Amino acid sequence: MRFLVTAGPTREFADPVRFLSNPSTGKMGFAVARAAARAGHDAVLVAGPVSLPTPPGVERVDVVSACDMLEAVRSRLPECDALVMCAAVADWRPARRAASKLKKGGMDGTLALVRNPDVLKTLAADKGDRIFAGFAAETGDPGAEAMRKLREKNLDLIAANDVSAPGCGFASETNSVTVYTAFDAPVRIPLMRKSAVAARLVRMIGRIAAARSAPLVLASKSPRRAKILESLGVEFTAEPTGAPEISLPHDPAGTVRANAAAKMRACRAKHPGAAVLAADTIVWCGGTIYGKPRDAAGAAAFLGELSGRTHTVFTGVAYCGPDGAERVCTAESHVRFKKLSPRAIARYIAVANPLDRAGAYDIDEHGSMLVEGWTGEYENIMGLPVAPLRGFLCRPFPVRKSGERPER
Ligand code: C5P
Repeated sequence: MRFLVTAGPTREFADPVRFLSNPSTGKMGFAVARAAARAGHDAVLVAGPVSLPTPPGVERVDVVSACDMLEAVRSRLPECDALVMCAAVADWRPARRAASKLKKGGMDGTLALVRNPDVLKTLAADKGDRIFAGFAAETGDPGAEAMRKLREKNLDLIAANDVSAPGCGFASETNSVTVYTAFDAPVRIPLMRKSAVAARLVRMIGRIAAARSAPLVLASKSPRRAKILESLGVEFTAEPTGAPEISLPHDPAGTVRANAAAKMRACRAKHPGAAVLAADTIVWCGGTIYGKPRDAAGAAAFLGELSGRTHTVFTGVAYCGPDGAERVCTAESHVRFKKLSPRAIARYIAVANPLDRAGAYDIDEHGSMLVEGWTGEYENIMGLPVAPLRGFLCRPFPVRKSGERPER
């Protein structure tokens, strides 16, 4: 990969000898550039005024002000895959930069300031498929601010550190950060040398990039699961695995987890290096797991059982990243069925796709006549809960509110 890293403070001059700045030493950014180069990536380091040696194998571009930094990053952005903004960019600069030293007597104690451009926000429009990572140096609880910046600056990852905590902060050799992504639970990197924190961050960014560019195989024959990935704009191929069904009679969540994982592993064995997504959905009603009916008569009996009752749809989702890391989760939706006449059931069965007569109702089409209401994620009823998918696939997918009808 090609990393573009910024580091250090910026200086905002009021005249040739006076400037606004901050105590950043550039250590974290230099550590990230060094870690990227050590891991075999290309690394360009855009550095504010700091007194650190250039890490081996890193190309360095020195800048002074925030505006210089924006221009340097803008010009190198097209040839990078990941931008990591470690720099403590000054938020304001003097409205005027005097060409010669201001005289003490001529100053009235005020300094007019103007806002500096935000590098990340300014370049968000040119982001494309690149990964953008930021740092949030906060005092107090950094979580809320980090999440706000993640959204506002359209970042894939933000590392938040409490600069007031012992062992953390500007000049320190060590750091402890919590990494937030748009999709996943926060990951805490405990207090360690900045070089070790940097190596972890570079690995995390590498994993996000690998997951994005690897081919995705959907281990499923369900047209509804495929439809969800299509509607999310994800490129994939679908391949049913034929893995044998596992049933744990008193454990619906365990059943879907086990089945999803089994399908995922069967498919992964055939496609090493690909990302594999698999899912399993079952209906749980009155303490019984309802499996998949084999024919129209089975489907009629199954839907008859659910008529007028509320049941739970369990969906297990299993994902294996291109690096082989596996993750499995379960989601639940609660579905209230209408009281149905045998005729209404027969009408539905006649038009429904035989692959999805149970467990996943084709709610936006014919199945809507069966359902009175539901809570949970609509996509879960379709067979894939969206929140974990966003995490697995590292893309900012839209999430619908509970019970909201999908747009057609
Ligand atoms: O200053 P702030 O807390 O908003 O910084 C969060 C992230 O945004 C950091 O990664 C920082 O490098 C970046 N930033 C920027 N341009 C600015 C200020 C901050 O890209 N003018």
